[in-house]
Amino acid sequence: MLTQVKDLHMAKQPVETNKDVLINRIRSLLTEKKAILLTHIYQRLEIQRISDHVADSLALSRVAAKTDAEMIVFCGVHFMAETAKLLSPEKVVLLPDLASGCPMADMITAKDLINFKSEYPGAPVVCYVNSSAAVKAESDVCCTSTNAVDVVKSIPDKRIIFVPDKGLGTWVQRQIPEKEIIIYDGFCPTHYQITTKEVERLRNNHPKAVIIAHPECDPSVWEMADFVGSTSQIYKYAQDCPQEEVIILSEHGLIRRMQADMPHKKLLMTFPNPLCPNMKYHRLESVLNALENNLHQISIPEYGVENGLFERARKTITKMFELTESKYASNYWSGV
Ligand code: 13P
Ligand code: SF4
Repeated sequence: MLTQVKDLHMAKQPVETNKDVLINRIRSLLTEKKAILLTHIYQRLEIQRISDHVADSLALSRVAAKTDAEMIVFCGVHFMAETAKLLSPEKVVLLPDLASGCPMADMITAKDLINFKSEYPGAPVVCYVNSSAAVKAESDVCCTSTNAVDVVKSIPDKRIIFVPDKGLGTWVQRQIPEKEIIIYDGFCPTHYQITTKEVERLRNNHPKAVIIAHPECDPSVWEMADFVGSTSQIYKYAQDCPQEEVIILSEHGLIRRMQADMPHKKLLMTFPNPLCPNMKYHRLESVLNALENNLHQISIPEYGVENGLFERARKTITKMFELTESKYASNYWSGV
């Protein structure tokens, strides 16, 4: 018995030591390769801790567009790394684990969008950044959950197509009733795990708590919230609100990070915890492997040079910056 306890202890030691070695090796390779590590706030905390920037998708895309690093290692999902590549085509962009895709982004292909557009001739298309480069190329302008309402408001047309997220699309429609938003049927499987019944249970158990939700939730869920906002807006609202108890209807990794930063608050989440498995594929080991072997390089060659898909997808993102520059350039979330 004693031996077993000792063995267990011995077995644990190298793992800890290994972690330090891994972290040191990652940091020195980042310096050697003039690389930066950009990390979405849904990632594992151990990766967040060693990153150069931890933020939401809008802030990370701004960093990717402006950095003078030669290489970007992106711990987020595939469309985020692809966005970084579109904005910085001359840089090497690495996604440590290629399995890290976004199921919502995969719910619409360029062909699906072309068919959808043909039903509403002339209507401009706003695509959520959670989409492939091919879908962006078929759209007029991109948005994130932070600036979706401003982007749609800035378009003069009365009728606008919004793809692929029906949660965010419905939220935009609610804010801009004077426009007709044609909404595609995509959704986030993680945020859709959150049920009204579970929110009801938390609300009954914590009557003093304020409820804040991400617009990717089912509309019947975000309707129960006191505040609806993007990742950065959720973070700020929880930090600034007077309530000590905060029910957060969003992803588990975000809430864990917020709780670490806000120990004076009691942050509550629904059960089962809404966890995005795709965001959690990256590990310290895969980040090191990415740096050692230049894996997995994001390239967009399949979209072809002759039909200008790369350039069209890129323009969709830069148009978003142009339309919202005055509001977000000086006032955007630089992460945590
Ligand atoms: P943010 O744009 O708020 O970072 O969210 C991205 C995302 O995928 C949320 O599920
Ligand atoms: Fe995609 Fe949802 Fe995961 Fe965000 S949380 S990356 S929208 S599956």
